[in-house]
Amino acid sequence: MKVFINKRIPDNGIQILKEGNLEIIFPENENPSHEEWLENCKKADIILSVGKSKYDKEFFATCPNVKAIALFSVGFDQVDIAEATKRKIPIGNTPDVLSRATSDVAFLLMQMVSRRASYNIDKVKSGNWNEFDALEELGQELYGKTLGVLGLGRIGFEMAEKCKSAFGMNIIYHNRNHNEEAEKELGAKYVSFDELVETSDVISIHANFTPEQSDIFNKSTFEKMKPNLIFVNTARGGFHNEKDLFEALISGQIWGAGLDVTNPEPMQKDSPLLELSNVCVLPHIGSATLEARSGMSKLASENVVAFAKGEKMPTCVNPEVYN
Ligand code: DGY
Repeated sequence: MKVFINKRIPDNGIQILKEGNLEIIFPENENPSHEEWLENCKKADIILSVGKSKYDKEFFATCPNVKAIALFSVGFDQVDIAEATKRKIPIGNTPDVLSRATSDVAFLLMQMVSRRASYNIDKVKSGNWNEFDALEELGQELYGKTLGVLGLGRIGFEMAEKCKSAFGMNIIYHNRNHNEEAEKELGAKYVSFDELVETSDVISIHANFTPEQSDIFNKSTFEKMKPNLIFVNTARGGFHNEKDLFEALISGQIWGAGLDVTNPEPMQKDSPLLELSNVCVLPHIGSATLEARSGMSKLASENVVAFAKGEKMPTCVNPEVYN
């Protein structure tokens, strides 16, 4: 079987594919055009997909030879899952192995924003480290505050656990389902979306993105938040409306924002958000650790090999294709 890998991945994954006796197609150059990418997809039985290539109805119709896709990500919003399922195409993802790394980044952003760290780093770099001033650039402490988690799955659980043990934070969450483990172990309380928005001191998003959730953090949501709210998004930029977020930040409706994801990505360097002292933006590095990326490489390649052997993918987002 032929597997097309659209971008480079850590060697451990390549090794697994080679041991699985798969024919590997690599892109001819580092920045292939959409047409070059599509030509390679057409030749492949399986795609190991790194990054944000979209797999929609049109894609599946254009590439009828593609029988499986192993994503190099936990998120699967780039795939039309209903269409893939209809066509009996399994879609693999890479859960768990990046939960620690991604929640570390959410935890980091929360703290950076609470102490306006990016702004203060820039001050030092630009030679503006001024005399001590007891009233200047005061941060806020996180002890005993309330963390509201939107999407309390594996990554959200890790974030909640860190916040609870480091700062004794109270955990509230909104999810499709109750997370009994988090309720038992962290005393997490299930609340409505509105209650999460209105009562949290920090909101951290860890949900899977779907088109229905586009811009759910918008003008009217920001208006309901507490003025000390720290907004953290390490999930997908589509959850928040950047213009409305900017307005909420400059008008003091909320305290600050820490973003590892933006809309679009990469963020434009002249984005007005980058001018604000209460914002910290990272370039989507949630899973960017040696450990997480090698775990992702292993899982994605194992999904490919399992499919090629006629077995179920170990981590499949649409297991109903096997029924
Ligand atoms: C994921 O795994 O979904 C990440 O956002 C990709 O780095």
